Amino acid sequence: MKTNYAIVGLGHRSQMYSTAILSRFFEQAALVALCDSNQSRMDYYNKRFADTYGAVAVPTFKPNRFNEMLQTRGVHTVIVTSMDSTHHQYVVDALLGGCDVVCEKPLTIDAQKCQQIIDVQKQTGKRVTVTFNYRYAPHSSLVKDLLMRGAIGTVTSIHFEWLLDTRHGADYFRRWHRDKSKNGGLMVHKSSHHFDLVNWWLASEPATVFGFGKLAFYGKENALRRGQTNTYARAYGSQAAAADPFALHLEQNLNLKELYLDAEHEDGYYRDQGVFAEGITTEDDCALVVKYANGATLSYHLHAYSPWEGLRVMFNGTKGRMELEWVESACNHDVNNPSPEADLVATLGLTNTVVIDRDTSPKITLQPLWGKPLRVTIPEFDSGGHGGGDARLLTDIFAPSVAHDQLGRAAGLRDGVMSILTGIAANQSFSCGQPIDAAKLVTW
Ligand SMILES: NC(=O)c1ccc[n+]([C@@H]2O[C@H](COP(=O)([O-])OP(=O)(O)OC[C@H]3O[C@@H](n4cnc5c(N)ncnc54)[C@H](O)[C@@H]3O)[C@@H](O)[C@H]2O)c1
Repeated sequence: MKTNYAIVGLGHRSQMYSTAILSRFFEQAALVALCDSNQSRMDYYNKRFADTYGAVAVPTFKPNRFNEMLQTRGVHTVIVTSMDSTHHQYVVDALLGGCDVVCEKPLTIDAQKCQQIIDVQKQTGKRVTVTFNYRYAPHSSLVKDLLMRGAIGTVTSIHFEWLLDTRHGADYFRRWHRDKSKNGGLMVHKSSHHFDLVNWWLASEPATVFGFGKLAFYGKENALRRGQTNTYARAYGSQAAAADPFALHLEQNLNLKELYLDAEHEDGYYRDQGVFAEGITTEDDCALVVKYANGATLSYHLHAYSPWEGLRVMFNGTKGRMELEWVESACNHDVNNPSPEADLVATLGLTNTVVIDRDTSPKITLQPLWGKPLRVTIPEFDSGGHGGGDARLLTDIFAPSVAHDQLGRAAGLRDGVMSILTGIAANQSFSCGQPIDAAKLVTW
């Protein structure tokens, strides 16, 4: 028998799930309902489904008819891909309606909503899966495998830096993510991916969190302080945006135009806001220290205005050290200024530099105490989102193997909760300047 899925939140991310249901997993899954506050986006997807797969229109529902949708459409599992601050309501209502839930990260954005989900899941006994695609990326899985097999002994500390560049990182400041009340800030919205990896790699849970977060680069005040005056509310129709490398031009991309520009008359969701406009409450530069239940410690930095995107993680262990580096995007370009590096060399009068191409192949280096470093070969790096992680994650959701996954990559409710507790505690620490006991933020 097929599993009947409903998707709530028909933005960009939802297409990973709808495509999977309508193509790769059509024998196991059926898409029986769509729910969104914006009818135009639901209609956009129905047209796409018809054009691409010859599918008949999937019935659409506004949020006030969510419960009716569950009952009338025979929904077994709800996939939640709506705006983060709305996740908890759909997770709770779906569980109470007798459904299982697949929820995009972050599970929710604060401790109170998190507790509500825990309580209702306990009451109903239904399943909540949180989708952590990064676990499935080959380098992340290999790190887990090596740590499980004792490659560096007991891990005592981790130093973790994640850089978001001026293209992808800037995107968080163009839309609802710029408002912390809608996504819990990047510590919850984005870093829950990274904190989940650390929890999983360490096989432990966060205990104490202390940090500082600030808006250091984006936002009107920062721009004006740097003497940058071409701030604009949104790119569409703005002269100032025409030559701004930070601008997103929705009208130049048919999918973005149809999904957002042509849908905004309904709800005023502007997907192309100026990253140097007023109203940003989300931090773009955050530093944390975290102590884990097993005694390990983490120093972590997220930075959202970097020239390159990727991560560096260093694991210190009782038998050696392991280092992971992954460059997701080496360099962005500004058509108005094709070689700022040459300007830098000229301005500083440097004579001892050479332009290099950053190596984008992921690297794992393993070095035993007293020994030389080893470069560990990472298995095939698939194409597709998140280093091929998306594709493997989908298999786990729609066609789970009966074979036991030694690495335990499928994430349940507790993993989803633990992944956001570090960020929720970080937000509290940013506000009060004190370390926060993350373990006490919820009860089980
Ligand atoms: N795992 C990943 O790597 C990854 C990548 C991208 C996005 N995501 C997650 O997917 C989710 C969606 O992100 P996106 O980029 O598609 O955002 P988006 O803005 O494109 O889509 C969000 C959708 O939610 C809808 N919505 C807003 N309020 C609603 C409400 N009250 N009820 C129903 N629908 C509502 C909007 O109309 C929109 O269609 C987010 O939670 C995000 O964190 C995860």
